[in-house]
Amino acid sequence: MNALQSTCVNFGIVSLLVAASNTVLAQSEPSALIDQHHCMFCHTNDAPFLAPSFQQISERYRKAPNARVMLENKLRLGGKAHWGDIAMPLPADRGGPITPEDAHTLIIWVLSQ
Ligand code: HEC
Repeated sequence: MNALQSTCVNFGIVSLLVAASNTVLAQSEPSALIDQHHCMFCHTNDAPFLAPSFQQISERYRKAPNARVMLENKLRLGGKAHWGDIAMPLPADRGGPITPEDAHTLIIWVLSQ
């Protein structure tokens, strides 16, 4: 095997490892909460649909100080629109009230997208 071939083989193994670790990360998604509050009714991970995608939201806020707390409060209590004219509906109109702990879990997950 020449150097180029062995580099390709190594690269293949690294890609497999990366794919495997992505699968593990995906399982830590709080899917019960996401289902309960119908987040995916309006959002997707990567494509803007009725609402900004979670990747867009993460891109915008990941490095902003205090954004996490602001978003957790907004998820529970509502607030004015930051993306367009349509604000996110209140929890009562989605899946019911969200506890501070659940809001925290959800926003940590959104910001990890
Ligand atoms: C009925 C549709 C709908 C549902 C259900 C919904 N969202 Fe949203 N969401 C929106 C819209 C529309 C926006 C854009 C609002 C804006 O301009 O700030 C938004 C914005 C957001 C933002 C960014 C807020 C900001 O201030 O920039 C976050 C974070 C978010 N949603 C998380 C969630 C999570 C987590 C859930 C599930 C608990 C959820 N959304 C369920 C419609 C929805």
